[in-house]
Amino acid sequence: AKTHLHDFVIQATPVKRLCKTHNIITVNGQYPGPTLEVNNGDTLIVKVTNKARYNATIHWHGIRQMRTGWADGPEFVTQCPIRPGGSYTYRFTIQGQEGTLWWHAHSSWLRATVYGALIIRPKEGDSYPFTKPKRETPLLLGEWWNAKPMDVVREATRTGASPNVSDAYTINGQPGDLYNCSSKDTVIVPIDSGDTNLLRVINAALNQELFFTVANHKLTVVGADASYTKPFTTTVIMLGPGQTTDVLISGDQPPARYYAAARAYASAPGAPFDNTTTTAILEYKSAPCAAKNCASSKPVMPSLPAFNDTPTVTAFSKSFRSPRKVEVPTVIDENLFFTVGLGLNKCPKHFRARRCQGPNGTRFTASMNNESFVLPSNISILQAYEQGIPGVFTTDFPANPPRKFDYTGNVSRSLWQPVPGTKGYKLKYGSRVQVVLQGTNIFTPENHPIHLHGYDFYIIAEGFGNFNPKTDTPKFNLVDPPLRNTAAVPVNGWAVIRFVADNPGAWLMHCHLDVHIGWGLAMVFLVDNGVGELQSIEPPPVDLPLC
Ligand code: C2O
Repeated sequence: AKTHLHDFVIQATPVKRLCKTHNIITVNGQYPGPTLEVNNGDTLIVKVTNKARYNATIHWHGIRQMRTGWADGPEFVTQCPIRPGGSYTYRFTIQGQEGTLWWHAHSSWLRATVYGALIIRPKEGDSYPFTKPKRETPLLLGEWWNAKPMDVVREATRTGASPNVSDAYTINGQPGDLYNCSSKDTVIVPIDSGDTNLLRVINAALNQELFFTVANHKLTVVGADASYTKPFTTTVIMLGPGQTTDVLISGDQPPARYYAAARAYASAPGAPFDNTTTTAILEYKSAPCAAKNCASSKPVMPSLPAFNDTPTVTAFSKSFRSPRKVEVPTVIDENLFFTVGLGLNKCPKHFRARRCQGPNGTRFTASMNNESFVLPSNISILQAYEQGIPGVFTTDFPANPPRKFDYTGNVSRSLWQPVPGTKGYKLKYGSRVQVVLQGTNIFTPENHPIHLHGYDFYIIAEGFGNFNPKTDTPKFNLVDPPLRNTAAVPVNGWAVIRFVADNPGAWLMHCHLDVHIGWGLAMVFLVDNGVGELQSIEPPPVDLPLC
């Protein structure tokens, strides 16, 4: 196994998109940031220096961080932010994961422009469980605003309203052919007749679930969230923010140019969204194409599902299987039921009207089990937990909603008042955990991509309406469910996940739509140190940023 050293400098960089130049925050002046390529078993040492004027941290999305929780990165959860002028070195080892992950800033909305791919190839000497592709291309889907993203979020926080939607989607930082001023920089994905290209598709968008497709070509899904899947073929994939999907594409069409395209899956009825389409170009590199001069031909446009095509999302999501029988915990020690959804809070009288511009003079909020998560501000939760410092968080996060109601029906207004707090839920080391993630219809239903730090989990079932233990438990897949780190909980529906709490630390679980994190759709699991040296978390690094 190798050790890879990298230097990340977070800095303001002028970047021109949609005809205008903005000073955006980047890593090393690159947008998207550097692609990290490693093998399973390797160690990464990344020194991050913050030369921007915002606080920053970097999160290695999906990396298990076994015993190395100090390197996970969410600000005020596992570390205090790296202040402007400061630095911190993240050290961790890839243990058992293979496929595509990514890294991103985990501080306010900084990740809008601070993100990159993290590619994990098989252990040295091992090969892919599918035919080795001739080429591999990471495709990071993102969002672009004609404003500083940090200003967009600041304005929303000030008013309590929903933030402005983005002005473009991007593929590898480029809006592509269908927007103004970006045609000549459109990303080209090369392919040869008869060869395959492994597309590593990553949804790095801040607030939007996205459909992705390639004109005239079939996509064979072989992995997701750095776990292999039983291969299946589809024409379109959907990714929630945070999710990755590896697809094989064969050069089996007449040599020409074809668009790869992404646009919104917008599941919340009536909510505004960016209704534009980003494109890259799949271009045949072979001689016949050159002869036909196809590099200057107009690419073929694919058809994408309608923005609200939930049946396509459901069919896609239900196609995922692990490649073989897996060890899903069958006996459960912790049976948890968490609602995930939005809410509206009354504005305290002393708030000026300017700060209450949500529906009917309210402020938007979001919660799990009616708890609206608030980050601490003067110490990280992990530090307080490991060092026994009181007063930072409480451990009374409820295992069940405070009261039962018809989650997906007409929810009573009295339940639209999530309570702010910093609450965690304790898990005993080694305990076998099931969480029912129940979407709600409070304010509006929406598909929520729920991400758990420090773990992969099996998604053993999903469905619409209210989860019913009697009729839904018999449908659990305990044989070959997919292993993921982010579960797209169906709109007005539910998903059930299982994992074993074998990684001590403080682990955030949250909706990966960043607007929802700010509103409180998050909680923290606190996993104890177990018994013995090899279970407990390593001591904090000496350069861990303090508050
Ligand atoms: Cu990809 Cu908490 O994040």
